[in-house]
Amino acid sequence: MKDFLKTLGIEGDNKGGFHGEWIGSGPKLDVISPVNGEHIASVTQVTEDEYDKIADRAHQAFLNWRKIPAPKRGEVVRQLGNKLREYKSELGALVTLEMGKIIAEGEGEVQEMIDICDFACGLSRQLYGLTMQSERPSHRMLEQWHPLGPVGVITSFNFPVAVWSWNAAIAAVCGDPVIWKPSHRTPLTAIAVQHMVHRVAERNGVPLAVFPLLTGRTGRKLALDERIPLISATGGTAMGKVVGRQVGERLGRAILELGGNNAVLVTEGADLDLAVRAVLFGAVGTAGQRCTTTRRLLLHKPVAAEMVKRLTAAYGQVRIGDPLDESIVMGPLVDHDAVDTFEQALKTIAEQGGEVICGGKTLGDKPSDCYVQPTIVRAKHEMPIVQEETFAPILYLMESDSVDELIRWQNDVPQGLSSSMFTNHLRWGEKWLSCEGSDCGIANINIGTSGAEIGGAFGGEKDTGGGREAGSDSWKAYMRRQTVTINYGEELPLAQGIEFG
Ligand code: UN1
Repeated sequence: MKDFLKTLGIEGDNKGGFHGEWIGSGPKLDVISPVNGEHIASVTQVTEDEYDKIADRAHQAFLNWRKIPAPKRGEVVRQLGNKLREYKSELGALVTLEMGKIIAEGEGEVQEMIDICDFACGLSRQLYGLTMQSERPSHRMLEQWHPLGPVGVITSFNFPVAVWSWNAAIAAVCGDPVIWKPSHRTPLTAIAVQHMVHRVAERNGVPLAVFPLLTGRTGRKLALDERIPLISATGGTAMGKVVGRQVGERLGRAILELGGNNAVLVTEGADLDLAVRAVLFGAVGTAGQRCTTTRRLLLHKPVAAEMVKRLTAAYGQVRIGDPLDESIVMGPLVDHDAVDTFEQALKTIAEQGGEVICGGKTLGDKPSDCYVQPTIVRAKHEMPIVQEETFAPILYLMESDSVDELIRWQNDVPQGLSSSMFTNHLRWGEKWLSCEGSDCGIANINIGTSGAEIGGAFGGEKDTGGGREAGSDSWKAYMRRQTVTINYGEELPLAQGIEFG
C-alpha cells in the first residue's frame, strides 16, 4: 500500500460508517483505481439498521451543537481548514488515485476545501438578520436565523471531497450536523477526510456525530428521513429528480446541484488566445467529468475557422496518461461504465449526423482501459444528443452568423448551470448578462465555464436543479428564518388597521 494512504489512515479494510465510532457490517466494496486498474482498498458499507443509528446520533448531536456559539463553531471549521492544509498533497493524491483527475486538479480540489473553511470561519460571525420598520407604534420587527437540523449531503465521484466541504463547512457554522453519503466510486477520500474531521472534533470536545459518514445504498432512506430537514444532492439530473421527489413528498428542503450542458460563445473580435486556453481547460479538464465542463462551443462565423484550427492544434498536444505524473493533463475516465457511455455517445453522434473532427477513440496502450481521447465533434443544435449531458470529454462545435442565435442556442437546452462568452464587444457582453442573455446560474465573460471560485453561490437553473451552495448567501438554506415582532407598548394595535371586538 502506498505511503500516502497510510498517512491518511486508509487501511486494507475500512469501515464505511462513522457516528462517533467507526461502524459498517454491510456489503464489502472493493475500490479499484481507474489510473492502473489496481485494487486500492476495501470498505465495509453500512446496513439499513446502522443508517438508523447514524441518523439518530446526528440528531442527538444537533441538540448540543446548535447551542455552541457560531464563532466557536467557526473556530472548529478553521482548524479543519488547517488540517487540510497539512494533508493537501496526500489527500490530493488520493483523489487522483481513486477517481483519476490529474494531481494538480486533485490538489486544487483540496484547495477549494481550505478556501470554504476560511470563508465559513468568517461567516460564523456574519449570520446576519435584518430589522424591519413596523407599521404599528411601539413595535419592533426583526428576523433571526437558527440552526436547522442534520443535513444529508450526497456527493458525486467527480468532486469527491470539495462538494462535501461546500456544504459541511457552511452547515457546521450554521449549527447543523452533516451526514455525508459519498459516491460508491469514491468512499476512500471520504474516509480519509473523516479521519481528519474526527481528530479536529475530538480535540475541540465537539460531539463526534456532528460529522457522520455513511457509505452504502441508503440514499433513499436518507431522502425520506423526517429527521433530516435538508438534503443537498450533487449528481445527474435523473438522480436529482428522484431525490427531489422523495424530499418534496415529506415537504423537506432540497439543494439540488445536477447536470450541466455548458456553452462557451466566441464572438468576432474576441481574444482567441484566451478563448482557446479556456475551452481546452473547460472541455478536457477532469477528462470532461465536471458538471461545469464545457460541452458546447458556439462560434460566431467570422472567428470559427481560426478557433477550430487553434483548438484542434491544442487538442493534439494534450498529454494523456498517469494523472499522478505532473506532466500529464488528462487522466482516465472514472470507470468502464464511463468508457461505455463515451463509446455509445459517439455511435449516437454518427447516427445523428455529427462529424468527429478530432479524437473519438479509446486508448489501448495505457495502464488501465479507462483512457479515451478528448474529442471534438462538428454538430448541429437540432441533434438530440446535443441536448444531453454526456459525462465524457466530448465537445460539440456549432456555428452561426448571428450572436443572438448563439445566445438562443445556449439557452435552448434543458440544463442551466454554467456559460461564458468570449467577447470584447460591450453590447454583446452586456446583452449576454442581461435578462435576455444567459439563463444559467453562472454567466461569465472572457473566462471559461469551469473552475468557479467558492466565494460565489454555485448552482444552476432548470434541470440543474435550482440549488445554490458555497459562497454569497447560500448559507441561508442551512438555517431556519424566524420573523419576530415585539410589542413594547401598552396597547394591542392590530396590523392592517383592523379593529376587532
Ligand atoms: C462539479 O463538477 O460538481 O466550478 C463541481 C468548478 C468547480 C466545481 C465543479 N469549482 O468547476
